[in-house]
Amino acid sequence: MSGIFITGTDTGVGKTVVAAAIAAALVARGVSVGVMKPVESGCRRVGDLLVAVDAELLLEASRCGDPIELVNPYPLELPLAPALAAEAAGVTIDLDRIRRCYSELAARHDIVLVEGAGGLLTPLTSAHTMRDVAIILDLPVLIVARNALGTINHTALTVAAATATCRLLGVMLNHPTPAVDVSAASNAEALTRWGGALLLGTLPYAERLDPESLARLGAMLPLDMLLGGSTFHFVDSPNDRSPVES
Ligand SMILES: Nc1ncnc2c1ncn2[C@@H]1O[C@H](COP(=O)(O)OP(=O)(O)OP(=O)(O)O)[C@@H](O)[C@H]1O
Ligand SMILES: [Mg+2]
Repeated sequence: MSGIFITGTDTGVGKTVVAAAIAAALVARGVSVGVMKPVESGCRRVGDLLVAVDAELLLEASRCGDPIELVNPYPLELPLAPALAAEAAGVTIDLDRIRRCYSELAARHDIVLVEGAGGLLTPLTSAHTMRDVAIILDLPVLIVARNALGTINHTALTVAAATATCRLLGVMLNHPTPAVDVSAASNAEALTRWGGALLLGTLPYAERLDPESLARLGAMLPLDMLLGGSTFHFVDSPNDRSPVES
């Protein structure tokens, strides 16, 4: 496999943290990891520059040293869906340019982790959503979801959107805040019953997110499976799902 597309059930669920944790843990194993955040909105303006904090964090975790223009070809200032932030900035997002940047990174590394913006159906251009990036790059999708009340519905909707047109790796539950609600104890099992996807693991809230702490988080994940690129689809009825490797 040459890459993974990391999406989420929402913005702020932990896509960057999960991607950075995977990157840091793979780097600790000696894997050459490339990263990409093709479009980042809500970038901080510093003079003439737009600082893409997700792309910077991914770069730091992967230690790949690639130029930011390849990792994040489209930094956008307004904290809006990319299509709207791009329109406001007079920028045209070109999926071919994203594909060329990805190809160059894929040629340099064993694996490239690509973080989407928002969720799968977040508008990217007037004709595309973020899901089209996974499709044009032909990448399997990893879904990050909050381990909190509401996640069963959000995850099942995202799984349906992913499996309609993409290969699905599975779902990663994450704790983006230290708060734990009563659903946290049953969400993993509930997702295996009703979520429609393989659960890859649950990441705890981490006090620190430096590369070493991220590597420790990432080591809790099924890295061999992620590297191997097995994807799963589900057969049988919605209440009797057995994952089938493909
Ligand atoms: N496991 C975790 N431990 C500690 N903090 C976390 C964890 N997961 C996420 N966070 C924090 O939660 C916030 C949102 O996480 P993150 O930026 O990874 O979300 P995202 O899905 O990438 O958001 P966006 O849609 O903006 O890209 C950040 O402040 C991040 O540091
Ligand atoms: Mg992010």
